[in-house]
Amino acid sequence: MTERIVLAYSGGLDTSVAIGWIGEATGAEVIAVAVDVGQGGESLETIRQRALGCGAVEAYVADASDEFANEYCIPTLKANALYQGHYPLVSAISRPVIVKHLVKAAREFGATTVAHGCTGKGNDQVRFEVGIQTLGPDLKCIAPVRDLALTRDKAIAFAEEKGLPIETTKKNPYSIDQNVWGRAVETGYLEDIWNAPTKDIYDYTATPEFPPAPDEVTISFKAGVPVAIDGVKVTPLQAIKELNRRAGAQGVGRIDVVEDRLVGIKSREIYEAPGAMALITAHKHLEDITVEREQARFKATVGQRWAELVYDGQWFSPLKRSLDAFIEDTQKYVSGDIRMTLHGGQAIVNGRRSETSLYDFDLATYDTGDTFDQSMARGFIELWGMSAKVASGRDIRVAGK
Ligand code: ARG
Repeated sequence: MTERIVLAYSGGLDTSVAIGWIGEATGAEVIAVAVDVGQGGESLETIRQRALGCGAVEAYVADASDEFANEYCIPTLKANALYQGHYPLVSAISRPVIVKHLVKAAREFGATTVAHGCTGKGNDQVRFEVGIQTLGPDLKCIAPVRDLALTRDKAIAFAEEKGLPIETTKKNPYSIDQNVWGRAVETGYLEDIWNAPTKDIYDYTATPEFPPAPDEVTISFKAGVPVAIDGVKVTPLQAIKELNRRAGAQGVGRIDVVEDRLVGIKSREIYEAPGAMALITAHKHLEDITVEREQARFKATVGQRWAELVYDGQWFSPLKRSLDAFIEDTQKYVSGDIRMTLHGGQAIVNGRRSETSLYDFDLATYDTGDTFDQSMARGFIELWGMSAKVASGRDIRVAGK
């Protein structure tokens, strides 16, 4: 029986050419797998037809947009995960869900190998292949751009020579990856890190310098999950989409960073994640009133480590799973409403309420009705500073000798 390879297929030039390229290089049959993670653009059926037109023996398309929102975006939100304090893991969280569908398709169609369109310089090759090794340890991996010398020029020449049903003239100077959680743009003009991004780079966000009137939004959460916007019930996917629209119109969620890739390269990336950044801001503010102080402090550390693991392609790892269990436990009381104003590139929280809040007005108030006994503070401070005071006494004593 002819060997079969499943290919992670985007519908773009490189993966379209990869279908025939892999076929010629290996003699295998190629099954194209396209996964909808809310990236917008062409319909799955259009993409399916193109894959078949480019020589795929089968084309498997999966609408994973709700699955992606529920099982990948929501855990990222619960973790308030921002890699290096900035990046909400847009591409990093989409790879594991794509891997799930690649492995599923490999089983369904009896494939022995999984192929993807990544280069040998990025994080995504690692995320794909580590994921595949974990979910399908018997499957082999191949990356035509990296392993079969499929360069851009060769791809264009191949597509023209074979008359593939794909545009070869449209030249986009950037490398773009997008899904419902956000959008990532790199390469070209942006590789000079002194160059400011030009307007044409953005798609999910409007220029924040000329915003429309301020937009006030109330987001309701239940156990860390957004469940309503302005009182209207929403699914996680709907919440993200709605906030992409409203926060995007205000230019919220533009991020320009030089980040540390797993392969040791520092690289410049422009992100736009209006919905994700608005949700993370709101969620964090709700945690501020519902999560106990020590748990909250520790959770910040956990969230950072979680972000690093996910960035580094360890979505299916035991440590990531253990951290998920911790994070989930902290979300029990993260329920309530956050009111925020979206305007001029910012999402600013100005109201919060929760039935499970730890904010005690009577303890906090400086007005009458104060229940906090201030006389307790003196003794507390004395003991709190005792250890450092004793040590400093020793420092003086030793220095004096
Ligand atoms: N640097 C980001 C990451 O590693 C995004 C990469 C997405 N690819 C792109 N072509 N912009 O997660």
